[in-house]
Amino acid sequence: MPDNKLDLLKTAAGQEVSRTQFLYTGCQIALAVSLGMASFSCANESTPDGVQFSGTLTLSAAQKSSLDSNLFLNLEQGVIVIKDGSVYRAFSRLCPHESGQITARSWLSLECERHLGQVFNQNGAGNGFRTSVALKSYTVTDNAGTLTISG
Ligand code: FES
Repeated sequence: MPDNKLDLLKTAAGQEVSRTQFLYTGCQIALAVSLGMASFSCANESTPDGVQFSGTLTLSAAQKSSLDSNLFLNLEQGVIVIKDGSVYRAFSRLCPHESGQITARSWLSLECERHLGQVFNQNGAGNGFRTSVALKSYTVTDNAGTLTISG
């Protein structure tokens, strides 16, 4: 309890509290708001931007073998290749939201590293967590087992 009336303050709800209680409660609210905003906005803001691919890229035999067994392949040149049944598809690793890097976790799930929760499916369609814009897709040419991506 406060020692005298001068130390009492009224809250917005009309409740009398001591100056110490008032400041303590205000600090708790400010801290909770700032921590909440920080955890929401800095998901992975420090991750590097994705790489913009253009041109032509032919997979090595080892890359093709890895793709055929894992059904997805993350390439540092800025391309993801997936195998959907007998069909190969290639997508950009540059996120259409804020240019984060996309990494395939499986052939069905391509995730943005900057804003975790933003996922693109095997057709490149976004789930709407941050964007519904599809990933840029590239042409995959299968020449007797040699895959070439062009875009
Ligand atoms: S950069 Fe925001 S979802 Fe990819």
